[in-house]
Amino acid sequence: MFPRILYFLQFFTLFTVTFASIEEATALLKWKATFLSQNNSLLTSWTLSSDACKDWYGVICFNGRVNKLNITNAGVVGTFHDFPFSSLSFLEYVDLRMNQLFGIIPPTIGNLTNLDLSINHISGKIPPQIGSLSKVETLFIFDNHLNDLIHLEIGKMKSLEVLLLDRNNLSGPIPTTLGDLTELKTLYLYSNQLSGLIPRELGNLKSLAYLDLSTNHLTGPIPSDLGSLINLIEIDLSKSQLTGSIPITIGDLTELKILYLFSNQLSGFIPRELGNLKSLAYLDLSINQLTGPIPSELGKLINLTEIDLSKSQLIGSIPITIGDLTELKILYLFSNQLSGFIPRELGNLKSLTDLDLSTNHFTGPIPSELGNLINLTEIDLSKSQLIGSIPITIGDLTKLKLLYFFSNQLSGPIPSELGNLKNLNELTYLDNLEELIISENQFSGHMPEHLCQGGKLENFMVNSNKLSGPIPRSMSKCSSFKRVRFDNNSFTGNLSEAFGIYPELQFINLSKNDFHGELSSNWGKCKKLTDFRVARNRISGHIPPEIGSLKGLQD
Ligand SMILES: *[C@@H]1O[C@H](CO)[C@@H](O)[C@H](O)[C@H]1NC(C)=O
Ligand SMILES: *[C@@H]1O[C@H](CO)[C@@H](O)[C@H](O)[C@H]1NC(C)=O
Ligand SMILES: *[C@@H]1O[C@H](CO)[C@@H](O)[C@H](O)[C@H]1NC(C)=O
Ligand SMILES: *[C@@H]1O[C@H](CO)[C@@H](O)[C@H](O)[C@H]1NC(C)=O
Ligand SMILES: *[C@@H]1O[C@H](CO)[C@@H](O)[C@H](O)[C@H]1NC(C)=O
Ligand SMILES: *[C@@H]1O[C@H](CO)[C@@H](O)[C@H](O)[C@H]1NC(C)=O
Ligand SMILES: *[C@@H]1O[C@H](CO)[C@@H](O)[C@H](O)[C@H]1NC(C)=O
Ligand SMILES: *[C@@H]1O[C@H](CO)[C@@H](O)[C@H](O)[C@H]1NC(C)=O
Ligand SMILES: *[C@@H]1O[C@H](CO)[C@@H](O)[C@H](O)[C@H]1NC(C)=O
Repeated sequence: MFPRILYFLQFFTLFTVTFASIEEATALLKWKATFLSQNNSLLTSWTLSSDACKDWYGVICFNGRVNKLNITNAGVVGTFHDFPFSSLSFLEYVDLRMNQLFGIIPPTIGNLTNLDLSINHISGKIPPQIGSLSKVETLFIFDNHLNDLIHLEIGKMKSLEVLLLDRNNLSGPIPTTLGDLTELKTLYLYSNQLSGLIPRELGNLKSLAYLDLSTNHLTGPIPSDLGSLINLIEIDLSKSQLTGSIPITIGDLTELKILYLFSNQLSGFIPRELGNLKSLAYLDLSINQLTGPIPSELGKLINLTEIDLSKSQLIGSIPITIGDLTELKILYLFSNQLSGFIPRELGNLKSLTDLDLSTNHFTGPIPSELGNLINLTEIDLSKSQLIGSIPITIGDLTKLKLLYFFSNQLSGPIPSELGNLKNLNELTYLDNLEELIISENQFSGHMPEHLCQGGKLENFMVNSNKLSGPIPRSMSKCSSFKRVRFDNNSFTGNLSEAFGIYPELQFINLSKNDFHGELSSNWGKCKKLTDFRVARNRISGHIPPEIGSLKGLQD
C-alpha cells in the first residue's frame, strides 16, 4: 500500500503543482492555534505563507491534498477534539504518537473512511462514529487513557486487519460484534479494565493470528470456539479471572507458538490435546487451580523453550517425556503437589538455564544427571522431601548463580563427616554463585574451604544443619556477602578471629552455635550491617561500642 502511494507521489510531483487546498491549510492552522505549546519549533514551518504540501513539517500531500500527517514526537500539547477531520477529506494516514493530546476522539473521524490512525497520549472516548471507517485496515490507539466502552459499532469496521486498543482504560464487555471483523489478524485489548465473558463470536475470526486479551477483569470460561482459530500464532488470556477448564479444542491450534493462560482461576486437568500444539514454544499456565497430572504428551512439543506450570494443584510425577524437550530453557513446576522422583531424564535438557521444582513433594535423591545441564544459571529444588547427598556433578554447573536446596532431608548417603565435606567442597568450583541456600537439611561435616573463590557469593545460608568445626579463614575473603546465616549448627572457634570485614554485609545470624571468644570491633566496620544475631553461643567480654546499636544483638 505505502510503496504504491509513494510511487504515485513522485509521479505527480513531476507534473503537477502540489498546493494543499487553502481550506485544508487553514483548518490545520486553526488546530495548531489551539495548542498549549505555541513555541513548538518543529511546527514553525506551518504558516499560511508557505506551501503546506512542500514546506510543512510532517505533511505529505497526494495530488495536491493533504494525504498523510506524521507529527510523531513533535512536542504537541493540545486537544485532539479540535482536530479538523471534517476538513481533511483526503487524509489516509495520521500518526500523532508521542505527543500530549487530550480530549475525546472527535465524531467527525467517521467522515474519513480511508483513515489509518495511530495516536497515543490521548484520553477520553472512542466515538461510535468510528464504525464508519469501513476501509480502515489498521487502527492503533494503544497506550492512551481511553476510558470508554468499546462500542458495538466497531464491528462495522469490516476491513480491519489490526486493532490495537491495548494499554488504555477501556471498561465494560468485549463487544460480540468484534466477531464480525473477519479480516482481523491482530487483536490486542490487553491491559484495560474489560469485564464480562470472552465472546464466543471471537471464534469467527478465522484470519486471527495474534490474540491478546490479557490483564483485564474477564470472567467465565475460555470459549471452546477459540479452537476454530486455526491460524492463531499467539494467544494470551493471562491475568484475568477466567474460570472453568482449558478447552480441549485449544489442542486444534497447531500453528500456536505462544499459549499464555497464567494468573486466572482455571481448574480441571491440563488437556492431553495440548500435545498436538506442535509449533508451541512458550507455555505458561501458572497461577491457576489446575489439578491432575502433567500430561506426558507435552513431551511431543519439541520446540518448547519455556514451560511454566507453577502455582497450581498439579499432582503425580514429572513425566519422563519432558526429557525429550531439548530446546527447553525454562522449566518452572514450583508450588504444586507433584511427587515421586525427579526423573534422570531431565539431565537431557541441555539448553536449560532455569529449573525450579521447589515447594512440591518430591522424594528420592537429586539425580546426578542434572550435572549435565551446563547452561543452568538457577536451580531451585527447595521445600520437598529429597534425600541423599548433593551429587558431585552439581560442581560442573559452572554458570550457576543461584542454588536453592533448602528445606529437604538432604544428607550424605554415608553419614560420615568426610562424605559431606567432599560434597560441599564440590560447590566451591561454582565461581559464579551469588546465592547458595541449603538451610534446613541434615548436612554434616565442616564448612568447605574456598567457598568464595568466585568472589560473587552474596546470600549464603546453611542454617539448621548439623555442620560443625571452625569457620575456615578463607571465609574472610567473601567480600560480596550480603545476607548470611550460619545459625543452628555446631560451629566452633574464636569469634573474634573467624570472620573478616564485609563491606556489603546487611544481615548475619550466628546464633545457636558453639562460638567462643569476644565480639570483634571489626563488625562495626561492616558499614551496611543492620541486623546481627549471635545469641546462644559462648561469647564473653564487652560488646564493642562500634556495634552496640545493631538490631538483633540482644537476642
Ligand atoms: C514553551 O512554552 C512553554 C509555556 O507555554 C514553556 O513552559 C516552555 O519553557 C517553552 N519552551 C521553550 C523552548 O521556549
Ligand atoms: C512517522 O514519523 C516517525 C518519526 O519520524 C517515523 O518513525 C514513522 O515511521 C513515521 N511513520 C510513517 C508511516 O511514515
Ligand atoms: C462528517 O461527519 C459528521 C458527523 O458524523 C456529519 O454530520 C457530516 O455530515 C459529515 N460530513 C461529511 C462531508 O460527510
Ligand atoms: C481508569 O478508570 C477508573 C474508573 O473506571 C479511574 O478511577 C482511573 O483513574 C482511570 N485511570 C486512568 C489512568 O485514566
Ligand atoms: C521448530 O522450530 C524450528 C526452528 O524455529 C522450525 O523450523 C520448525 O518448523 C519448528 N517445528 C514445528 C513443528 O513447528
Ligand atoms: C549454552 O549457552 C551458550 C551461550 O549462551 C550457547 O552458545 C550454547 O548453545 C548453549 N548450549 C546449549 C546446549 O544450549
Ligand atoms: C535447628 O535445626 C534442627 C535440625 O538440625 C531443627 O529441627 C530445628 O527446628 C532448628 N531450630 C530452629 C530454631 O530453627
Ligand atoms: C537467628 O537464628 C536463630 C537460631 O536458628 C533463630 O531462632 C532466629 O529466628 C534467627 N533470626 C533471624 C532473624 O534469622
Ligand atoms: C580469641 O582471639 C583473640 C584475638 O586473636 C584473642 O585475643 C583471644 O584471647 C581469643 N579468645 C579465646 C577465648 O581464645
